[in-house]
Amino acid sequence: MKKIGVLTSGGDAPGMNACIRAVVRCGASHKLEVMGIRRGYAGLLEGDFLRLDARSVANILQRGGTILETARCEEMKSKGGIRKAAQAAHQEAIEGLITIGGEGTFRGAAALAEAGGISVIGIPGTIDNDVYGTDYSIGFDTAINTALDAIDKIRDTASSLQRPFFIEVMGKDRGFIALDVGIAGGAEDILIPETKTKIEELSLDIKRSFERGKKCSIIVVAEGDEVGGVFPIAQQVWERLRIDYRVSVLGHLQRGGSPTARDRILASKLGAAAVDALANGKTGYMVGEVKGEIALTPLKETWEKRKELDNNLISLAKVLAT
Ligand code: F6P
Repeated sequence: MKKIGVLTSGGDAPGMNACIRAVVRCGASHKLEVMGIRRGYAGLLEGDFLRLDARSVANILQRGGTILETARCEEMKSKGGIRKAAQAAHQEAIEGLITIGGEGTFRGAAALAEAGGISVIGIPGTIDNDVYGTDYSIGFDTAINTALDAIDKIRDTASSLQRPFFIEVMGKDRGFIALDVGIAGGAEDILIPETKTKIEELSLDIKRSFERGKKCSIIVVAEGDEVGGVFPIAQQVWERLRIDYRVSVLGHLQRGGSPTARDRILASKLGAAAVDALANGKTGYMVGEVKGEIALTPLKETWEKRKELDNNLISLAKVLAT
C-alpha cells in the first residue's frame, strides 16, 4: 500500500484534529502518502483532496472541530453513491481509507469496504459515545467536561434563587453524556432515553428535595429523552408544582473547544492503530479501545450491537441525589 486517505464525517468532535495528525504522522512512519479528504464523503464524491504531510498537521492537536471539515452525505446511502466514492478513490490511487465519525460514517465505510478495491478502517469520533466496540469515542470526554463546567455555573444561580433547572445535554438516541454529566454535576435527576421518564415521580422528587432543605434542583435531560425534549418536561412538572423554574439547552457548545488530554491521547492512539491496521492488510473494521487495549470490531457490529449503559451508575445517581 502506497497511498491512504483520511476523512471526518457526520457531527464533528473535539479530538478529530489530534486523530488526523496521528494518521498523517504514523502514515509517514509507514512510508505512506496521506491524502486528506474535505467535507467527509461529500468531498470524496467530488474528489476534493489535499495532500497532508507531517508539517501540514502541525499545531492542530489542540484545536476543536476538524481541519478537514465534515458533512452529512445523503448520497452515500445509495448504491450509486458508494460506486462513485469507490471510483473517486481509485482515480486518486487511494488504496486505504480511514474514516473518523459515528454510525452514519461507519455505514458508508462498511459499504465501501464491501464494494471492494479499497481497504477501509473506521475510528469512533462522536461526542455521543454511543458506538459499540470502544469504551470511549473521541470527543466524549471534552463534551462532558464542557457540559459540566456549564452545569457548575448554572448551579450557582440556581441555588441563589432556589430554582429547579432543567438542563438539556446532547445525545439524540442515547444517555451516555447525560449520565456522566449528571453524576459529575450532582444532578437531582437524570432523564435518559434508556429509562422511562415518569413526570409524577420527577415532580415529587423535586418537591421533596426542596423540603429536605436543598437550595436547588438540577435535572439533566438527554436530548433524546422519550418525553420529547426538555421544554415539555419542565412544563409538565410546573403544572404539578407551580414552582418557578428555568430551562437551559447546552446544545452545540458541547461539540466545540480544545480537546481534553484524554481525548488527545485516545485520538492519537486510535489514529496510529488505524494506520497499523491498514498496513497489516485489515479492512472493514473499526479500531477502538476496550479496557485500555486496542480492539478491532467489524464495522457492521458497531451499529448492530448495542453499547450498554452502566446500570450501576444509574442506581448510584439516585443514591447520591438524596
Ligand atoms: O451525533 C452527535 C450530535 O452532536 C448529537 O448529539 C446531536 O443530536 C447531533 O449531533 C446534532 O447534529 P447537528 O449538528 O446536525 O445539529
